[in-house]
Amino acid sequence: MTESPHDPTLDAALRTHTDYGVEKLDESDLAGDPFTQFTAWLAEAAERKAYEPNAMVLGTIDPDGAPSIRTVLLRGVDERGFAFYTDYTSRKGRALLANPAVAVVFPWYTLHRQVKIFGHAHPVEATDSDDYFAHRPRGAQVAAWSSDQSTPIASREALEQKVHDAEERFADAPEVPRPERWGGFRIVPSRVEFWQGRTSRLHDRLVFHREGESNWRVERLQP
Ligand SMILES: Cc1cc2nc3c(=O)[nH]c(=O)nc-3n(C[C@H](O)[C@H](O)[C@H](O)COP(=O)(O)O)c2cc1C
Repeated sequence: MTESPHDPTLDAALRTHTDYGVEKLDESDLAGDPFTQFTAWLAEAAERKAYEPNAMVLGTIDPDGAPSIRTVLLRGVDERGFAFYTDYTSRKGRALLANPAVAVVFPWYTLHRQVKIFGHAHPVEATDSDDYFAHRPRGAQVAAWSSDQSTPIASREALEQKVHDAEERFADAPEVPRPERWGGFRIVPSRVEFWQGRTSRLHDRLVFHREGESNWRVERLQP
């Protein structure tokens, strides 16, 4: 490996060592289920101005067994699970339809917190996708028709031409319909970990394990 030239800015970036303050996460602080706990932390992330607090990094397994990741936005959470929307024919869409196993992280760095979710993702009801799609800005609705997500295209111009074609197609339509290949997945968790950064790397890690339909066992992990 060739030695890279000395760059103090890069060195500083690689040596960043934040000591995560005084906040803690005790078993006694924890809600009785991961959805209530997650919702409280998400609200706090929004209040404390975390950038895109609903952004989550989603890991899936491709049909050939290779892992794959990308960021998506959480659009709903309740006791049924965590919902996001995408193109079912995208790389992640095809992966999930073949193998629903997922791993997710919400990286709330500015809060010194992260939440990890492990479970299975299944398509939401078509009516839920219709409702969500209907509330998207028209530009995003047209984009859903214009982009065969994750497939190659010759140029930016070719993409813009597809947008133009879709705009023409729906020019007289009061509402842009949802493309059938576009919709939601709901992640049903089997394990959810709440991580609170603490001083000297002695972080708190509390994990909910699903035991039955709505029973959860909490376990503390070493940092
Ligand atoms: C902040 C952020 C939010 C995103 N939200 C979504 C989303 O909600 N749905 C989506 O399909 N792609 C979203 N993307 C784009 C994905 O990260 C990804 O590029 C795209 O879905 C294609 O992924 P795939 O090829 O693995 O299927 C987002 C990207 C970023 C950076």
